[in-house]
Amino acid sequence: MSNRRPKVYVTRRVPPDGLEILRPHCEITQWDSEKPVPRAELIRQIAGKDALFCLLTDKIDGEVLNAAGPQLKCIGTMSVGYDHIDMTECRERNIPVGFTPDVLTNATAELTVGLLLATSRRLIEASQSVREGGWGTWDPCWMLGHGLDGSTVGVVGLGRIGMAVARRLAPFGVKRFLYSGHSPKNEANEIGAEFVDFDDLLSNSDFVLGCCALTKENQGLFDKDAFSKMKSNAIFVNTSRGGLVNQTDLYQALVNHQIAAAGLDVTSPEPLPTDSPLLTLKNCVILPHIGSATEMARGAMSALTGRNILSFLRGEEMPCRIK
Ligand code: DGY
Repeated sequence: MSNRRPKVYVTRRVPPDGLEILRPHCEITQWDSEKPVPRAELIRQIAGKDALFCLLTDKIDGEVLNAAGPQLKCIGTMSVGYDHIDMTECRERNIPVGFTPDVLTNATAELTVGLLLATSRRLIEASQSVREGGWGTWDPCWMLGHGLDGSTVGVVGLGRIGMAVARRLAPFGVKRFLYSGHSPKNEANEIGAEFVDFDDLLSNSDFVLGCCALTKENQGLFDKDAFSKMKSNAIFVNTSRGGLVNQTDLYQALVNHQIAAAGLDVTSPEPLPTDSPLLTLKNCVILPHIGSATEMARGAMSALTGRNILSFLRGEEMPCRIK
């Protein structure tokens, strides 16, 4: 690193951990707000910066990279997902991008299990009915849901998070784990998970979990066709990216009871407009993208983003660089 302190633009108010790592060595400019930086402000502020500390809400494309100028050396995104970054543009310009795998795996897996249970055991609907006076006497046929015991769980994308979710679900008495993706994984043996094609997973699973990264190829993967292949008792849970799901098709599948219920921590767009038809459904539980929202995980994500940027600026390997 030269004597000049490199300039880093931070696109949001973030947990301080990453800034504490950068501050002694870098000149930081920050969009210090709970709201995303407006695009025009990002484009104005990135000019002349050496590094960008961004979030999943910032679209980083050729226009932003052009606005930055040729001195931009690296990008660190405080997320494990990087569908918001045009990686082709970054690679063409030799701009490495750091991300934050592993440090959010446990938090996200935990939330996925929580959302699955809230959806399958109708926790939100049941709690709401207590508040609204809907709780009459104990009723043997009321608020029946679907349990994990003896079930088949299908994980679409058995990566770090998919595997961590499966490990947590195994003790609930899951009978079979299925998974689909590009190729079989050695780790799958640990839980005896069977590699199957997507259609087999859909038609055999009681729980279908979207745990894969969003790419151009799997945009809208869960569509009318996919929902039509699922079992009528199926619970669909997505904690990856909203872009995996065709929400119009999901609404139809839920309203027609083609599948039993859905739990979504991610939607498209985010935030989900409050007039979204999905919000009218009792069999749809929607959370505001809080998979990694623990103090510990978000602090670690911020710190890792700071370390990714600082390492590269010092001429070292980034601890976690997107290949
Ligand atoms: C990520 O990091 O990509 C998650 O979606 C947010 O925690």
